[in-house]
Amino acid sequence: MSNIKIAPSILSADFSKMGEEVQSLEKCGADVVHCDVMDGVFVNNITFGIKMVEDLRKITTLPLDCHLMIVHPEKYVERFAKAGADIITVHWEACQDNLKEVLALIKSTGVKCGAVINPDTPVEKIAEVIPTCDMVLVMSVFPGFGGQKFIPEALDKLREVKRLVEQSGRDIDIEIDGGVTAENVALVKAAGANIVVAGSAVFKAADRAAAISALKK
Ligand code: DX5
Ligand code: ZN
Repeated sequence: MSNIKIAPSILSADFSKMGEEVQSLEKCGADVVHCDVMDGVFVNNITFGIKMVEDLRKITTLPLDCHLMIVHPEKYVERFAKAGADIITVHWEACQDNLKEVLALIKSTGVKCGAVINPDTPVEKIAEVIPTCDMVLVMSVFPGFGGQKFIPEALDKLREVKRLVEQSGRDIDIEIDGGVTAENVALVKAAGANIVVAGSAVFKAADRAAAISALKK
């Protein structure tokens, strides 16, 4: 077993019984609950928002990792924090020149902050803010849907992020999101990821505990 953390994405859960789904993840050895918040504008899909986080907070002790795929995330940061998010990540593509300020706003609420980059955004766009982050999230699919194929160029980006994290001398998590399976998890780990998001690899498995432990090995 390794010290890699598995963060199942509830995007692939049955939304009609979300509480049970999250409790099942907890029993099956998940380390983090990855909450994909989509607004239908930043991405071509709509999921859930603040109320979901607030209600999940009451039924799980696992950290809630809120990946905001929304425009103007700064408008909602305080409410996600108040709802019980443990970490809030925001996209460079949504914040651009304001990314530094939005990350500082997240920190000011007492919640951990993270910067996210899409597959077509170079690491250099976030190089300056990396030292201010608690986590960096590298997307290995274009955000919007679960079950897409892993984009292998993300591995180079992980290595680059790892180098910048080491250079910062800070304890910053590196998360990878999209298309990760038991078959490619060793590659993402070797490239520097220590938190792995997995949606379909966990929720489509007949045995979720076995799927999570396969991802950890
Ligand atoms: C994509 C989401 C991911 C996705 C991961 O927009 O951010 O978290 O649900 O799902 P899989 O693991 O199925 O690619
Ligand atoms: Zn995500």
